[in-house]
Amino acid sequence: MRRFFIAGNWKMNLDRAASVELAAGIVSALGDISQLDVAICPPAVYLEAVASELSASPIALGSQDMHDQSCGAFTGELSGPMLTDVGCQYVILGHSERRHLMGEEDTQVNKKLHAALLHGLSPIVCVGETLSDRQAGRTMDVIRDQFEGSLAGLTDVQMGITTIAYEPVWAIGTGEVATPDQAQQVHADLRSLIENSYNLAVGSGVRIQYGGSVKPSNAADLLAQPDIDGALVGGAALDVESFTGIIQQVPGY
Ligand code: PGA
Repeated sequence: MRRFFIAGNWKMNLDRAASVELAAGIVSALGDISQLDVAICPPAVYLEAVASELSASPIALGSQDMHDQSCGAFTGELSGPMLTDVGCQYVILGHSERRHLMGEEDTQVNKKLHAALLHGLSPIVCVGETLSDRQAGRTMDVIRDQFEGSLAGLTDVQMGITTIAYEPVWAIGTGEVATPDQAQQVHADLRSLIENSYNLAVGSGVRIQYGGSVKPSNAADLLAQPDIDGALVGGAALDVESFTGIIQQVPGY
């Protein structure tokens, strides 16, 4: 039985005071979340400040990225051990903004994924097609390439620790959400791909989040789909009411 997983990606937003206020607001607004997993991924400079707001709550902390090396001459980068040291449990890898704006490729995402697992972090690996990919009927080709490249070389156990976020690039930050049917179709195809690459047990155990303009008003229909196990939320994670409003749509909350 897969547990629902809702993660908030704050991206490069908020300042220290607003980060602390938002984290504290989410902690006090949420009721019993023992039936699901919730994580918040603030900007790296505010990880510690947010960690102290989350310390007495079941909400986990996550980073928005990491480097694949543990230490060394990599100016501006953050390592897995640094992230666990400040309390991170999760790390987002291969977000479309990193792939498309910073030129990150599958091989790099894959190195980061192996480093994250080595250091005890639970990775959230993002995959997703652009609008032109979708219009050309190439959605599953792109997802398959990203899956085979970014997620290469995992053991069954490592695949089970890893969450995949299906985030159609055309739906991120645009207000345009994939329909529940469109999202379900990709999630189901991706799950079959995992079943064929690993086995039935691994495929049926992997959590696949949907991401791209998730809001309280569309979350219930998305989360009701059999292969959608949660959401990776951007814009709507920057507000207590909208983030907790999404969590309240999780079946069984
Ligand atoms: P959005 O972002 O919810 O603002 O579309 C989602 C994401 O980038 O993970």
